[in-house]
Amino acid sequence: GLEADLAGRRVLITAGGTREDIDPVRYLGNRSSGRQGYALAATAVARGADVTLLSANVTLPDPAGADVRRVRSAVELQEAVLAESDKADVVVMAAAVADFRPAERAPGKIKKQAGSGPAPIELVENPDILAGLTRDRAHPGQLIVGFAAETDRVLEHGRQKLARKGCDLLVVNQVGGGKAFGTADNQAVVLGADGSATEIPHGPKEALADRVWDLVADRLTPRPRG
Ligand code: C5P
Repeated sequence: GLEADLAGRRVLITAGGTREDIDPVRYLGNRSSGRQGYALAATAVARGADVTLLSANVTLPDPAGADVRRVRSAVELQEAVLAESDKADVVVMAAAVADFRPAERAPGKIKKQAGSGPAPIELVENPDILAGLTRDRAHPGQLIVGFAAETDRVLEHGRQKLARKGCDLLVVNQVGGGKAFGTADNQAVVLGADGSATEIPHGPKEALADRVWDLVADRLTPRPRG
């Protein structure tokens, strides 16, 4: 996008992957690099948006012009999203959020118990941040975009997920076999609640981000003039 078609729009983007602490030194995490979310932030800034980026455990340099806040766990991410989402015109949930977290974080490093084998880690469910956002929309015109990584029957599973999450757009990536995670390139199909399906060919994550913003810009309500 060469034009500032997102000028004055407030967008909230989540990026990276949450870490769920087991004890002071160990955690459950995932392979998300944060690159796609950071590309979304950089391209949104370039198109004139006012960008808040909630970054979970990403080691990339901050995108220039974005307001970057760091979070660690899914619960922290949810708190930050809820604090920021009211004023957002668009929310893009690109972060990989852990579905489960340890029921408790041990206060000290868990010791290996001689002879007793591994201690089980009890897990509890994390909130589904995206589903919660669409359930209690801050305002009717707010656009909510989710991401999904699927390994098989991508379209079918994507459609089901779109319905379950209640978002306006779902960017479905095919993953596995070295695709997407931690790489510079990505390819996706974007499913719309309006029934649309837009293929985004294989290419840099910035190019995919720009195509996502095109779809978002098409769906934003016109701004009042004057
Ligand atoms: O169900 P799944 O994890 O595949 O859904 C992915 C989408 O849902 C992403 O947009 C992710 O940010 C969001 N999500 C969430 N809260 C969770 C799990 C996923 O917001 N607990």
